[in-house]
Amino acid sequence: MGRAKTPLRYPGGKQRLSPFIEEILIENNIKNGHYVEPYAGGAGVGMELLLTKKVSNIHLNDSDFGIYCFWYAVLNRTEELCQMIKSASMAVDEWRKRKEIVKKCDRRKKLELGFSVFYLNRCNRSGILSAGIIGGLDQSGNYKMDARFSRNDLIRRIETIAQFKDNIFLTNFDAEYYIKNYIPNLPQESLIYLDPPYYEKGCKLYLNAYKKNDHARLSKVIQDEINLNWILSYDGVSDILELYNERRHFLYDLQYTAAKVYKGKEIFIFSDRLRIPQKSVIEHINIGIKELSSI
Ligand SMILES: C[S@@+](CC[C@H](N)C(=O)[O-])C[C@H]1O[C@@H](n2cnc3c(N)ncnc32)[C@H](O)[C@@H]1O
Repeated sequence: MGRAKTPLRYPGGKQRLSPFIEEILIENNIKNGHYVEPYAGGAGVGMELLLTKKVSNIHLNDSDFGIYCFWYAVLNRTEELCQMIKSASMAVDEWRKRKEIVKKCDRRKKLELGFSVFYLNRCNRSGILSAGIIGGLDQSGNYKMDARFSRNDLIRRIETIAQFKDNIFLTNFDAEYYIKNYIPNLPQESLIYLDPPYYEKGCKLYLNAYKKNDHARLSKVIQDEINLNWILSYDGVSDILELYNERRHFLYDLQYTAAKVYKGKEIFIFSDRLRIPQKSVIEHINIGIKELSSI
């Protein structure tokens, strides 16, 4: 799998699951096909699969305009974005300015907004846009705000991704709209991976989060409207198990960082026609399965 391909830090980022998703692609004859993330965020899995040529095209969607602008700038304003990263000031005043730009969210200034989202993502604790700056406002912490801002490496990642821009289809829709209006036009050789905001931790981690009834409505849209193969990941809470109790699923433990390191019990849910690969692959990426259910 190698080093991270995405330039964004994402709490709960799923890049580690790429070998498992790749096995699913092989098992279902979707190799060299289309891979689709309606909740793209940092798109860790998508970038890994595209850059290592496991799929031919990726479709990334995120309803957060700032995140969309970042990816827009990577694909369409590559040179200017890299120049901004190269010359970015690592000072608390600059961080305040970037925070203000993200807050104002002027939709006419996509490059400025995209860069500012990236800046906060790299300079804030755990990459969370609403969190504080690494090292604190007085920069007295052990780590300073530039601890995660390795310019050359980040520029290299962005330039590499931009080389694939003809194979990346970026949109800024609400996921339910995307499922109903975009996904039906995709070829059969597609895999949809849905990673919505978590049910319980969601509102703490992202700027936009679903409420309970949104998750319930989404579960109907996913199960009734997607005619292609899909996989869904969530936090493994009983309400989610209830919403998807007719689908095959398994629970697993995936350790990740979001302010503190903690062990998350997560769930994978599968569309009915999807062939699920062997357990060995899951062991290979070191996530522990709690239960495999095929109700
Ligand atoms: C759990 S994160 C996805 C993380 C991603 N899988 C990764 O590895 O980086 C959820 C993403 O969904 C986006 N999002 C939240 N609500 C949405 C909605 N209604 N429609 C589309 N995207 C949404 C958020 O902006 C966030 O980037």
